[in-house]
Amino acid sequence: MLLRQGIVVDHTQAQKADILILDGKIAEIAPEIHAVPEPCEMIEAKGLYVMPGGIDVHTHFNIDVGIARSCDDFLSGTRSAACGGTTMVIDHMGFGPKGCSLHHQLNVYQKYAKDTAAIDYSFHGVIQHVNDDILAEMASMVEEEGISSFKLYLTYGYKLDDAEVLKALMQLKQVGALATVHPENDAAIALRRTQLLEQGKTQPKYHAISRPLECEAEAIARMINLAKLAGDAPLYIVHLSNGLGLDYARLARDNHQPVWVETCPQYLLLDDSCYEKEDALKYILSPPLRPAAEREKLWAGLVDGSIDTIATDHCSFTYHEQKQRGKDNFSACPNGMPGVETRMPLMFSEGVMKGRLSPSRFVELTSYLPAKLFGLYPQKGALQVGSDADFVLFDPEQNVTITHNLLHDNADYTPFENTPTQGWPVMTISRGEVVARNREFTGQAGNGRFIPRKAFDPSL
Ligand code: URP
Ligand code: ZN
Ligand code: ZN
Repeated sequence: MLLRQGIVVDHTQAQKADILILDGKIAEIAPEIHAVPEPCEMIEAKGLYVMPGGIDVHTHFNIDVGIARSCDDFLSGTRSAACGGTTMVIDHMGFGPKGCSLHHQLNVYQKYAKDTAAIDYSFHGVIQHVNDDILAEMASMVEEEGISSFKLYLTYGYKLDDAEVLKALMQLKQVGALATVHPENDAAIALRRTQLLEQGKTQPKYHAISRPLECEAEAIARMINLAKLAGDAPLYIVHLSNGLGLDYARLARDNHQPVWVETCPQYLLLDDSCYEKEDALKYILSPPLRPAAEREKLWAGLVDGSIDTIATDHCSFTYHEQKQRGKDNFSACPNGMPGVETRMPLMFSEGVMKGRLSPSRFVELTSYLPAKLFGLYPQKGALQVGSDADFVLFDPEQNVTITHNLLHDNADYTPFENTPTQGWPVMTISRGEVVARNREFTGQAGNGRFIPRKAFDPSL
């Protein structure tokens, strides 16, 4: 396959070039390529941005959250991802049975994704308790299974206490893994929730009031200090939603501590006014949407380099059924929203087309840094000879208004209904195969592969 005369963008530069793809890998990149093997599929990319395929390092496909199972599995989730310009996901595994091993949950997820995923995938391990067996298992997860990141939860059913966090952080550093954390102060949230419910404050908007941004920022500061105590264990903060938490991360980085930050489109583009809407249940997720002033603080972090990645936290439940469990009590609503298909178009439109992010910075946030941090580079996230031929082609001239019936997930809504966008991903290529074209899925369930990841690179 030859991609002809696109505006080829990586994390450092943009230039017009041809790209030759052979056997699913990049074979050559040059201003013009004439010597091509026959037959060769020609793709005219003039006027299109040709970028490394999106890497979404935060999805929850087929997750069982106890009160519900998310409505997207690895088939609908990766189909939707492909149609939105994403060529790889790293899924956060859900909790397994009490006391289960790390390998148990990995095996469960390998079965979910095998034969269903349409694009490449990996998983983050999940630490639901800490003991000598779990600590010992971490090494073989990295070395033998290619799982080099793990999630620690400070809230929800299997939250870790500070001693468990410290032990886990020390061992993860030792074995070359990156600790990712969902930071929220569980005790503060539990108290506020109980008080609100006792006062009869059960409507969806009280979900946000039960877990204000200080609950998140406090837990971020605590995690940063525990990571310091663990000998500068590398720390990755998932789904950052507010400026105070970002300031704590900035302070740590100014002190040369290895701390990395992810945010998501919903925190950049939506705010807590959504909880006043009739369909407020659609927006129940954790952390919740914040006051509008926080959005600009996050955009500033994207621009000044203090935020490293944009992921989605795609965790979808149907509005008409699953989300309705929360209609009389916000705490009974399954948390999460869809987003895997809208991340790339929304960020391209709001970031690149509105002039807030350069095309290269967009690539850095959506593909290059995700690949670097999670042990995928340069197989993924790079436009280099030998890298996987994973691309997204954006047409800056296409204006699309997002509505759910354009999307390919199993949810029955998008939180971005009626959002106008400028520039759209018109083609997605996964290891040399066109998996989406003009909003149609053209890939195949089962063509996605599990990608073993390298250990965390401490020189980052
Ligand atoms: O509400 C959310 N975000 N649900 C998914 C699980 C998580 O906290 O990331
Ligand atoms: Zn989370
Ligand atoms: Zn999540």
